[in-house]
Amino acid sequence: MKVTLFGATGRTGAFLIAEGLKRGYDITVFARARSAFDHAGVRVVRGDFDDIGRLREAVSGSEAILSALGPVRLVHPQGLPITRATESIMAAMGQEGITRLIVVSTGTAVDPGDGRDPKIWLPALLIRYAMPSVYRDIVALAQAVRQSPLDWTMVRVAFLNDRPPGRLNVGLYGRVRHSLRLSRADLARFMFDQMADPAHVRQAPGISAA
Ligand SMILES: NC(=O)c1ccc[n+]([C@@H]2O[C@H](COP(=O)([O-])OP(=O)(O)OC[C@H]3O[C@@H](n4cnc5c(N)ncnc54)[C@H](OP(=O)(O)O)[C@@H]3O)[C@@H](O)[C@H]2O)c1
Repeated sequence: MKVTLFGATGRTGAFLIAEGLKRGYDITVFARARSAFDHAGVRVVRGDFDDIGRLREAVSGSEAILSALGPVRLVHPQGLPITRATESIMAAMGQEGITRLIVVSTGTAVDPGDGRDPKIWLPALLIRYAMPSVYRDIVALAQAVRQSPLDWTMVRVAFLNDRPPGRLNVGLYGRVRHSLRLSRADLARFMFDQMADPAHVRQAPGISAA
């Protein structure tokens, strides 16, 4: 059982790797060419996101692709790097015949089925005006994923922490009661659960700590 992880060089990545190893997966981590990332328990493929050959090498033979790529810093480059990277990943998946994609997103990427939840749209408004390059990348990423023919799931989260796992709220914002908190351990567990569960294919559920 093989799985390929993107964005696994970050903080959520450590939890994704631990969860995947616990479940017995052969894990490939794609790391940026200059990344110092290393981990004895996983295969590391290093490259740039415009190198389709490297991306194909990373995703080849995997059951699913899990991505925690995302803008997290206050200063995020213009040019939609996360969207462009994910578009390249999706192209590589298409060429390798891999269909299952599970990516991290946020409430800033509104789902057409969302109801009204000020707790979610107020931070989204703040991000839109205070961090426009982050906002544009989050929205463009969601659009690109929705337009793909893949079996995607966008897992939308609010503020991540490193607390122990617990019970979850799962569902569209404004339809299900959500908190603003989520542990990275729960995020990793939920993402791996989606590999065997078609319930959220082509859906973007919010998840939060109950
Ligand atoms: N932290 C939060 O409270 C929070 C809230 C809402 C949503 N999220 C989302 O949750 C996910 C994981 O969050 P985290 O806190 O674990 O993040 P993190 O530790 O900062 O990891 C982010 C990952 O994205 C990659 N990345 C960032 N900018 C990139 C760029 N311009 N080009 C290519 N790769 C880039 C990083 O790669 P490098 O290691 O190469 O830099 C890293 O692997 C992200 O998608 C984030 O947007 C986080």
